[in-house]
Amino acid sequence: MMPPAPAQRKVAVLSTPEALARACAAKFVEAGKEAIMLRGKFAVALSGGHTPAGIYRALGAPPLHGAVDWSRVQFFWSDERAVPADDAASNFAMAQRELLARIAVPAENVHRMPGEQGDLDGAARAYENTLRRHLPLTPQGVARLDLVLLGLGADGHTASLFPGSDAVDEKRRWVVATPPAGGWRRLTMTLILLNAARRVWFLVTGRGKSAMLKNVIQEKRLQSPAQRVQPPGGELIFWADAAAAEQLRPWKAVTR
Ligand code: 6PG
Repeated sequence: MMPPAPAQRKVAVLSTPEALARACAAKFVEAGKEAIMLRGKFAVALSGGHTPAGIYRALGAPPLHGAVDWSRVQFFWSDERAVPADDAASNFAMAQRELLARIAVPAENVHRMPGEQGDLDGAARAYENTLRRHLPLTPQGVARLDLVLLGLGADGHTASLFPGSDAVDEKRRWVVATPPAGGWRRLTMTLILLNAARRVWFLVTGRGKSAMLKNVIQEKRLQSPAQRVQPPGGELIFWADAAAAEQLRPWKAVTR
């Protein structure tokens, strides 16, 4: 049997977080239009944290907010904290404020991870069923997202896959509940699901991430959860601003 094709990896360095947000949002629109043209819909998993907020704002404002047929877009989340949907720490609440409240997306297209549920494992299993209902499956029988947005922690975590967590080595489940990390229990997509996606984009800004970004991109030994995101045959783009990319040399900032 042929070995799986490697991920097609790119590094896009923009001079500032604002330039990164504009460039990434424009590429998001392109990817969305292509998916809708080819398959009739665009299934995207949004990331939490602070970095994506600028991209969501750019997508929710002119001219991009009118550039996508949002009725064809299905929104999912790559992870969520175990908090209510209107909590300041909620990844859904941030996306709702910066993007979803500003675009004409039907409520039934927005698939929030129910982090507020007491039975988090049950919530994880229910979310897998949601993914199964809305997404095509790969030949290996895994739900296939068109695009996953991910952040990168300075410790090499991504989504809510933290170094040393059992969730990192999960081999069957697509979504799992995690023990407390960074202050909350969480729900997270696993590498099984992330690596089934057609496109995975990491969004990384700030000098504090530069050492880990260098490690994730250039270190051959697999040391961090983020390094293990390598969708076979899929697109893998590291979107970085100049500060996060300062240890990656040589590179040329793509200023927009
Ligand atoms: C979360 C996020 C997490 C985040 C990284 C980077 O729920 O905390 O999913 O994985 O993406 O910690 O966060 P910043 O963008 O805030 O640096």
